[in-house]
Amino acid sequence: MLSIPSGKVVFSGIQPTGIPHLGNYLGAARQWVDIQKSNQCIYCLVDMHALTVWQDPQTLRQQTLEQAAILIAAGIDTNKHILFNQSAVTAHARLAWIFNCVARIGWMNRMTQFKDKAGKNREAHSAGLYVYPNLMAADILAYKANCVPVGEDQRQHIELTNDIAQKFNHDYQIDFFPKVDEFIPKTSAKIMNLRDGTKKMSKSDPSAQGRIEMLDTDDEIASKIKRAKSDSEPLPSEIEGLQNRPEATNLITIYAAVTDKSIESVLQQYGGQGFSTFKTALADVLVEIIRPIREETKKLVADPGHLKKVLKQGAEKASAIAEPIVSEAEYIVGFLK
Ligand code: TYM
Repeated sequence: MLSIPSGKVVFSGIQPTGIPHLGNYLGAARQWVDIQKSNQCIYCLVDMHALTVWQDPQTLRQQTLEQAAILIAAGIDTNKHILFNQSAVTAHARLAWIFNCVARIGWMNRMTQFKDKAGKNREAHSAGLYVYPNLMAADILAYKANCVPVGEDQRQHIELTNDIAQKFNHDYQIDFFPKVDEFIPKTSAKIMNLRDGTKKMSKSDPSAQGRIEMLDTDDEIASKIKRAKSDSEPLPSEIEGLQNRPEATNLITIYAAVTDKSIESVLQQYGGQGFSTFKTALADVLVEIIRPIREETKKLVADPGHLKKVLKQGAEKASAIAEPIVSEAEYIVGFLK
C-alpha cells in the first residue's frame, strides 16, 4: 500500500459504461475513498469520454446514475467532496479544445490505449477516440489538480497530461499548469481477467465470466472465482514461485489487495496448498467487500431524483473551481475576455 498524500487537489474519473468491476475498484475507486481524508477530491463520471465509442443514449443516462450510486455506496463522501458528470461542466470541453491545439499528432500516435482500442481498423473509429487523452488532460488541469489516483493503464495518459501542461507553459511563457503526479497502487494497479491472466480485466470483454462486477450476487462471485483459470501446481511459498504463472499471480494479487496484506504474507499462509481452499477463502473475502456496496447501490438507484440532485450540486461546485482557471487559460491563449 502506498502512503496516502495530503493537502493535494485530487482529480479522477471513470467511464459510466457497463458495470464497474473489481479492477476499477481495486485499481482506482478504493484509493478515491482512502484519499478523501486528507485532500480536496473531485471525482468525475466521464460521459464525454464514454461517447468516443457508440452508446445507446438512454442506457448512458441510466448508467451514469448507476455509476454515481456505486461510487457513493463504495464510500465517496459527496457532502465533503465533489462527484459530477463531465458534460455538466463545459470548462472541460473548452480546455480540451485548447489542448487539441497544444498536443502534437506524434504524441497521440504513441498512445497505446488508442492502438489497443482501435485495433487494426483505425480509420473507422471516431476522431474523439483519437484525441481522448487531451480531454483527460483537460479534466485534470481544469482544476489544476496535482494528484490523480488511477490504475496502471492510465499512466501514459498522465505523462501526456504533463507534456501538455509543460508545452502550454512554455509556449505562452507562463507558469500556469502544475506538475501532476499519478497515484497508482502497488499491488492492485492491474487486475487481470479471471479466464486469462495475460489480459486486463475489462468491461469491454464480451464475456462477464472474466470479471467480478461490483453488482454481482454472492453466488455469482463464488462461481466466477471457483471457475477462474488456475494451474496444476500448488501455490508457492515465495514470490519467485509465481513466475510464469499469470493466473495464480492474479488471484494472489486480488486476495492481497482485498485483505490489505502483502503478497509475501499471503504466500506464507497458502504456500504449498492447492487452489481449492484458497479460492474458497478468496470468494469469501470478495463477497464481504462487494455485498454492502451492492446492497447500498440498490437503495440509491431506487431514488434517481436524489442522485441527479447530488450530481447537479457536484457540477455546480466543480464549475466554481474550473471556470476561473479555464477562463484564464482562454485569456492566456488570446481569446477576448
Ligand atoms: P476507466 O473508466 O477505463 O477506468 C476507471 C479506473 O479504473 C482503473 N482500471 C483498472 N485498474 C486495475 N485493474 C484493471 N483491470 C483496471 N481497469 C480499469 C483505470 O486505470 C481507471 O483509473 N480515461 C479514464 C477515465 C478518465 C480519467 C480522467 C481518469 C477520464 N478523465 C482524468 C483520471 C483523470 C478511463 O477510461 O478509466
